[in-house]
Amino acid sequence: MHHEINLDKLDQLKKGDPENMLEALSGLPTQCQDAMQRARAVNISFAADFKNILVTGLGGSAIGGDFLRVYGYRKCTLPILVNRDYNLPSFVNEQTLVLAVSYSGNTEETLSAYEEAKLKKAPIVALTSGGQLAERAKKDGIPLILIPSGLQPRAATGYLFLPLLVVLEKLSLLSDIAAEIEETIAGLADLSKAISAQVPTENNPAKQLALRFYNKIPVIWGVVGTTETVAMRWKGQINENSKALAYFNVLPELNHNEIVGTEVPEKFLRELEVVFLRTEDDHPRVQKRFDITKEIIGERVGGISEVWGDGKNPLARMFALTYLGDCTSAYLALLYGIDPSPVKLITLLKNKLAELPEA
Ligand code: PA5
Repeated sequence: MHHEINLDKLDQLKKGDPENMLEALSGLPTQCQDAMQRARAVNISFAADFKNILVTGLGGSAIGGDFLRVYGYRKCTLPILVNRDYNLPSFVNEQTLVLAVSYSGNTEETLSAYEEAKLKKAPIVALTSGGQLAERAKKDGIPLILIPSGLQPRAATGYLFLPLLVVLEKLSLLSDIAAEIEETIAGLADLSKAISAQVPTENNPAKQLALRFYNKIPVIWGVVGTTETVAMRWKGQINENSKALAYFNVLPELNHNEIVGTEVPEKFLRELEVVFLRTEDDHPRVQKRFDITKEIIGERVGGISEVWGDGKNPLARMFALTYLGDCTSAYLALLYGIDPSPVKLITLLKNKLAELPEA
């Protein structure tokens, strides 16, 4: 099959990736260390008796909230919600911890939600690389975690997730996170070597997956409570890096609906490459569900790949799979001859909105 570039030719990879997405991805372990230091250095304390936690943000800045939500299933006694909107849900009040996250600091939905949180007297922490959000937080005396600018938000996941854990730890809403985080970063460092551009396709699972996705529609199936955010992330990364459509869903729910949708049209089904995201943290019955689902749909779709998240703890396993998806999507972009970094359609849409009068 013809590909625009050969993934094992480093000069071709470099030429196809002028804004260095692969390099940014390989820097994730270092970024995570820096993110922890930056967050730990900020003074955060509130007198509030918190009842719930809400992360507000969009796109690459919201996904850290989803990772936090899934992490919180096991570790946090308060409900954690993610808000991707201009407005806040009506339960938000002075007992809600609001984490306002925008990499650029200029996302209009997030700025609107931030203002609403202020009106509702919710304690707020801002996480951003600058922009309006940083300015407003400074002016309003709101704790501000500043992260470096110059990355694509989706290449700043360490910066956009780990500080949220630190904030919750500082407020005694999470405990004993340090060892898990250290193991996660060490696991990412090992994986970074295993799936880097220098490792040839025959030994590189990310390059192999990218080849399986090439000229197919990726369908990513994860598991609620373990890899649900990872599945969403794979889809988003294939959209933004590879500029291709992809879909995701989760077990066990998809066993109650989507699986039935694999009968027709046959022509389309043959174009699907289904990926199962698996970890040892999945419920034993869900493990069985994966096996049976594979038996049932195996002949109907173009292909099925199973990938396992390895790591010393659930967070490490969640991030190992996330990182594999990030690198796969960048390699897939390069196979198509597409620059993984720019997201011209998001920029175009934001510019068109900026020309309109405010509502
Ligand atoms: O990946 C992207 O560029 C987007 O999904 C952005 O993260 C999203 O548009 C929100 O922007 P920001 O992260 O700057 O708040």
